[in-house]
Amino acid sequence: MVFREKLPQDLVPTFNDVILVPGYTEVEPVEVDVSTNVSRNVRINIPIVSSPMDTVTEHEMAIALARLGGIGIVHRNMTIDEQVEKVRKVKEAPQYSVYLCYVDPSQKCREALQIMRELSVEYLPVVNNGKVLGFIRKIDCVKYPDDRAVEHVRSPTVAELYARPEELRNMMIDNDVDVVALVDSSEVFQGIVTIWSLEENRPFTPCVDEEGRLRVGAAISPFDYERIRRLDKYVDVLVLDVANAANARIVESLRNVCKEVSADLVIGNIGTYDSAVEIINRVEKIDGFRAGIASGSICSTGIVTGVAAPTLWATAQVADAALEYGLKVPIIADGGIKTPGDAVKAFAVGAWCVMLGRVLAQAYESPSPVISIGDRKYKYYRGMASEGARKRRFAVDRYSRKVKDISEGVEGLVPYRGPVENIVREFVSGIQAAMGYIGARSIQECWRKARLAKISSIGRGEIEPHNILLRF
Ligand code: XMP
Repeated sequence: MVFREKLPQDLVPTFNDVILVPGYTEVEPVEVDVSTNVSRNVRINIPIVSSPMDTVTEHEMAIALARLGGIGIVHRNMTIDEQVEKVRKVKEAPQYSVYLCYVDPSQKCREALQIMRELSVEYLPVVNNGKVLGFIRKIDCVKYPDDRAVEHVRSPTVAELYARPEELRNMMIDNDVDVVALVDSSEVFQGIVTIWSLEENRPFTPCVDEEGRLRVGAAISPFDYERIRRLDKYVDVLVLDVANAANARIVESLRNVCKEVSADLVIGNIGTYDSAVEIINRVEKIDGFRAGIASGSICSTGIVTGVAAPTLWATAQVADAALEYGLKVPIIADGGIKTPGDAVKAFAVGAWCVMLGRVLAQAYESPSPVISIGDRKYKYYRGMASEGARKRRFAVDRYSRKVKDISEGVEGLVPYRGPVENIVREFVSGIQAAMGYIGARSIQECWRKARLAKISSIGRGEIEPHNILLRF
């Protein structure tokens, strides 16, 4: 198979230049398996990786995404201590939401009832000085007068903070409760898990390591050895974060990095077949590639420098190099992916998963605050080579070098879309729908089965909603 031959040969195609060709299918969208790898040894359950940008991925995004089966790459526009701390927070977070909800013995039944109603649960722990005394039942709170203090506790159901979801679900069934109180190794109360928190991400399976901790990645510079050494202890994958990895100084530095790290190492970004071959020939440890230069929604590299390797084209180039040189490692298509269809077009030319910036910047869990303008809500999103991001980098990172005196990214607002869960559900359903049309049950099948055809810009208008007066 040669992925490049799937693309029109008379141009450098971008996502909008091509369409996926439907085929005879026996595959229903719900049957499509979207699990894949982000790097040689790191399996993910959905093909979504969040971009290491300071308006996209810190610990909140990485936790939420890993709970949904994807993986977040924590950005590096901060001090080493801060980045390590954020990665640790992901590793310390349970696979499910934990609520710090309880009552103490002096509180009134009415207060307990209100919390139980908000959480839609029948039980709540009564906690004194960090010790779980027992559970109060909703029915008892309903029966007794409003001002009565919390009493009538039954024996509590308690588990350790990192208990696995199956274990917690079984405890709830065995004890006929809908809440488990979580404690640390010294039996100090840490919060509760409810039956609803165990159900909230279904049908997604969290992306966890062998010890049941959420998986996480971190962005690195090839010159920042101290950062790499410290992150390597915690992360599942280190992701090289440079605009063009095919650079002599970067490659030289990477050769030293390879000797030090035990986590998987993803190299990027790369734009061409030749660049990938140079790297394959020079770098010992390659556990994945990030493909695409200048396609990102906030990129101005293409405009400022005239240089670009649009993601769809770059993915085919890098995937072919890996294939031809016998390197079976994931290719992450990165930049300009707007829709699930774009993701599946990238799979068609050899991608294993996609990296999303703008799409995830719109979520509640991205690091920037929600901004209200009139009755609309937005989030701030910026390129990592934009003026604002570069200023911060020089302020916090003693390893940053001013190699260029020009910004290659822009800053702006994107519409706010609420919890990342909603965005991911829609995106994954879209991917499954597209793969259903193609008749591909998995991403590997997509490499083989998906066909692309060139579409004109006039034709492109016809496959978008058109000729209606008002659109809601
Ligand atoms: P999307 O389209 O998902 O793209 O928002 C995110 C990707 O864009 C890259 N990136 C940049 N590229 N200047 C660039 O030329 C920048 O300032 C910049 N910041 C991010 C990066 O690959 C990211 O994942």
